[in-house]
Formats: sequence, C-alpha cells, structure tokens
Amino acid sequence: MAHKAIVVNPGGGYDNVIIGVREAANPKEGEITVRMHANSLNYHDFAVVSGMWGPVEPRIPMADGAGEVIAVGPGVSEFSVGDRVVSTFFPTWLAGTPPVEGFATVPGDGIDGYARETVTKHVNAFTHAPIGWSHTEASTLTTAALTAWRALIADGALKAGDTVLVQGTGGVSIFALQFAKMVGAKVIATSSSDTKLERLGAMGADYTLNYRTTPDWGQVVRELTSGRGVDHVVEVGGPATLEQSMIATRVGGHISLIGILTGLGGEVSIVTALIKQLRLQGVLVGNRAQQQDMIRAIDANGMLPIIDRCFPLEEIVEAFRYQESNRHFGKICLEM
Ligand SMILES: NC(=O)c1ccc[n+]([C@@H]2O[C@H](COP(=O)([O-])OP(=O)(O)OC[C@H]3O[C@@H](n4cnc5c(N)ncnc54)[C@H](OP(=O)(O)O)[C@@H]3O)[C@@H](O)[C@H]2O)c1
Repeated sequence: MAHKAIVVNPGGGYDNVIIGVREAANPKEGEITVRMHANSLNYHDFAVVSGMWGPVEPRIPMADGAGEVIAVGPGVSEFSVGDRVVSTFFPTWLAGTPPVEGFATVPGDGIDGYARETVTKHVNAFTHAPIGWSHTEASTLTTAALTAWRALIADGALKAGDTVLVQGTGGVSIFALQFAKMVGAKVIATSSSDTKLERLGAMGADYTLNYRTTPDWGQVVRELTSGRGVDHVVEVGGPATLEQSMIATRVGGHISLIGILTGLGGEVSIVTALIKQLRLQGVLVGNRAQQQDMIRAIDANGMLPIIDRCFPLEEIVEAFRYQESNRHFGKICLEM
C-alpha cells in the first residue's frame, strides 16, 4: 500500500520540497517494516532540505525517526510486531571505531530517511526506543542525544565531579546538560538569551553565562572553576567559539568538536592546544551499540527529552524556518 512521504528534489531548497508517495516493501530476511510516527530536526537535515547541501537525486529527508514495528521478515529475533523503535544514524556502524566518513550512508542524507509514513529497513537501522517514551520523544535521540552521549560518556569518560561546558540551548547542548547531571557532573551553560539561561538553571545548570553580553566567557568560566578550567567542552559553536572554549578548558581537558553554527573553518591556536595538552576530538554522532547503551541509561534514570515544539509532517518547511529563527529550546519535532 502506498503512503505519504516528503521528497526533496535535486538541489534542495524550500521550493523543492514536495509531498510524494512511497510504498514500503514486504520485509525480507533480516528486515522490519515500521509505521513511522515522528521525526526530529537537526542542522544536517536543514542543510539537505534548505539546499545548503542539497541532494543530487530525489531524497526523503530526516535521519531521526521513531515508530512502531508492523511486520518482521524471516530471521528477525530482535524485534516483534508492536515494538517501539528509533532510527540509527549509521545503520552500518554497529560498534567499535568508525568504518565510514561523511554522510554517504546516513538516512535522509546519502540514502532515504524517515519523513515518511512507512519504511522497510534492515534491523540495524533501528534500536528499541526508551521504555514509556512517546514516539515523538523517541525521535529526538538519533542525532542530537547520541552525539552528546558519545562526546561526554562513550568517548569523554565523564565522571561525577567533572565540570562540563555546554553552549547554547539547541538539541545537542540540552542533552549534554541532562547526561552530565545524570552522572553527577557540574555544568556551566551559555546562551544568548537571559530567559533561556533561567530555564537552564531550572534544569540543573550550576552556572549560566550570556555569551553575547560576556564575549570573553572563556576567562569567566576559568574563574568559575577556581582557575582550573572545565574537564569537557561540548563545542557546537565552531570558529567563533573554539578560542574561548580552549581558554575555558583545563590542562589536559577534552574538547569535542561537534558543531558548525558559526562557520565551517577558521584559525586554531595550535600553541594553546600544545601548551595546555588539550584533546580536540572530531565527533560525528555515534554507533548503534552506543545508542543502545544510551537508551539503557535513559531507562535506568527516568530522563525525558526537552521538546520545544511539534509540527505536522506536511509543515516540514515551516518547522525548518522555525529552527532557523533560533527561538527554540531543545528539540523541534514532526508528527504524522
Ligand atoms: N558532529 C555531530 O555529530 C553533530 C550532531 C548534531 C549536531 N551537530 C552540530 O551541532 C550544532 C548544534 O546542533 P543542534 O542540533 O543542537 O542545533 P540547534 O538545536 O539548531 O541549536 C541552535 C542553538 O545554538 C545556539 N548557538 C548559536 N550560535 C551560538 C554561538 N555562537 N555560541 C553558542 N551557542 C550558539 C543558540 O542557542 P541560544 O539561543 O541559547 O543562544 C541556538 O538556539 C550544529 O552546528 C549541528 O550541525 C553536529
């Protein structure tokens, strides 16, 4: 049976987004068919849909999708009909070190994604969703949450008593704040909005700073840590924030290079990195085993995601325009 799907025509751009029709095949060996219920938005989905990095062929966008299993193929034992599932960012990176670079294997980017009502995929394209979460809540995990989890927990080895710096109030940073508090770390959080800073404080941030009115926040962060500096930075700003992040980090500290909110490249003070023996690590989301670990931790801690606003699937362009406005706090979702 044919179902609705959002399709971005070659080149992308909001005028190139249409509502099309796609049929989900019957599941073959090792595959499941999922009735999708929700997606969440990320910056790389914006790049595909807006035309910044438009597709070369018609593409169903959105890496993050959640729904319910409606059919299982032969040989599938991990999932049953009725299970709630959430998509994986790298369906071919199951565990260990990354076997791929870039976005060629990523749903919604190099291959078709989840802005569609039904889909049939190999089981590795999904994991079980957290217990008791709605489909919309589960759809927030694939990209933003797993990136924060890998940066701090899987690769950062964050421990109780460490101090973490998170930047702004987008999806990655809010999840990073939640995971940091989950393990008993301290959090210093920045935002351009004093109203959002109040919300960060209410969520447990130990110190908050307005990065607009305090442009030299790196030094202020050091003072807040009695001159020591933070153990980890979840770096989402990019060229305009990295220098301050390096000032804010302790000797031997860890900076996860994650975001490009202020541009794609710029100068790096190599001498600062050397003198302070910083560990700068590029992070591109994470693998399927890390997603399963993260969901186990969520189940054990009763955490819930912060969702700012949901739009119907058909209003995908309005949803991305809202994301561009930077008015959100946490995640923006699409519902079907
Ligand atoms: N490498 C990866 O695996 C990976 C995965 C996910 C996302 N990312 C990247 O990480 C970045 C954030 O993603 P997201 O999904 O969390 O984005 P988002 O939800 O769109 O975050 C936007 C927020 O970032 C904050 N921001 C903007 N400019 C800033 C600056 N100069 N300093 C500090 N904060 C700033 C703003 O917060 P305030 O309004 O509070 O100021 C804004 O609301 C993007 O560049 C995205 O491409 C990378």
